[in-house]
Amino acid sequence: MIPLIRTVVGGATGKLGSMVCESILSSDDIELAGAIVSPNSRSLGKELFPGVFASSPSDLPKLLKNADIYVDLTSPEAASALVDNIPEHGVSLILGTTSVSAETLERMKDNVAKNKTSALISSNFAEGVNAFWKAAEQLAGMLKGYDIKILETHHSQKKDLPSGTAMETLRRVQNASGITETTYERSGKGPEQKKIEMRSMRAENVVGDHTVIFTGNTDVLEITHKAVSREAFAIGCIDSIRWIFGKKDGKVHSMYEVFE
Ligand SMILES: NC(=O)c1ccc[n+]([C@@H]2O[C@H](COP(=O)([O-])OP(=O)(O)OC[C@H]3O[C@@H](n4cnc5c(N)ncnc54)[C@H](OP(=O)(O)O)[C@@H]3O)[C@@H](O)[C@H]2O)c1
Repeated sequence: MIPLIRTVVGGATGKLGSMVCESILSSDDIELAGAIVSPNSRSLGKELFPGVFASSPSDLPKLLKNADIYVDLTSPEAASALVDNIPEHGVSLILGTTSVSAETLERMKDNVAKNKTSALISSNFAEGVNAFWKAAEQLAGMLKGYDIKILETHHSQKKDLPSGTAMETLRRVQNASGITETTYERSGKGPEQKKIEMRSMRAENVVGDHTVIFTGNTDVLEITHKAVSREAFAIGCIDSIRWIFGKKDGKVHSMYEVFE
């Protein structure tokens, strides 16, 4: 019999985490081995899913003893305090939470290598966004001399701004274009050359829209990705659970490898 992939989900009551838990429960090959919520959550101790109760982050070491994978879909602060130690429990980590501190990521990477586990970090699990990133990178390398703008819109409860996906877009476009400076506010004093302009908007129910605009003297090229439903992220997250299961290579991976 093929072993079930025992998976603990952090952020199990969240918009994305609850959807990932539901997808796990309806799969044949993944088992929901634990559901983590915030330490002060009103859900603590409640049966969130059949046979699965809401646990506090302090219960994580106990839950991870009987798990293969921990998926973090919490908040930037919660994940920054938590995920660097996950490899010490011998499980693989899937980090979907955005805007986690660079120091935490660095420690996590060292711990993955030391403990010979594996990790996958993605600020966006949607297949279309991973293609969007590749296209943005390629265009930024080709359209030298064009002004570059990145626009993102998300629902109004989103905790980070700009979004993790927009920041990843910026990083890739910077590398490809060689333009290292970014502006988040225009002075109104005319064109700001050689800076990438980043704009964020918050609008009630928008799941996640990202656009890169390349403006030349005589033409404009725009690419846009729109997440129509959070399912786009949940599906990619489930794919990444299956992909990372059994990998003990001491490396941190990206979603590109899952879609290869
Ligand atoms: N990678 C991707 O494709 C992708 C896509 C969408 C969103 N995201 C990111 O995923 C994260 C979650 O997004 P969301 O929209 O689902 O957020 P959300 O609806 O606010 O849910 C947050 C979840 O985290 C839990 N939580 C909060 N603080 C915690 C703590 N200190 N310890 C443990 N759990 C804690 C919450 O539990 P309570 O019930 O106790 O509040 C809740 O279950 C964000 O960083 C977001 O940017 C990633």
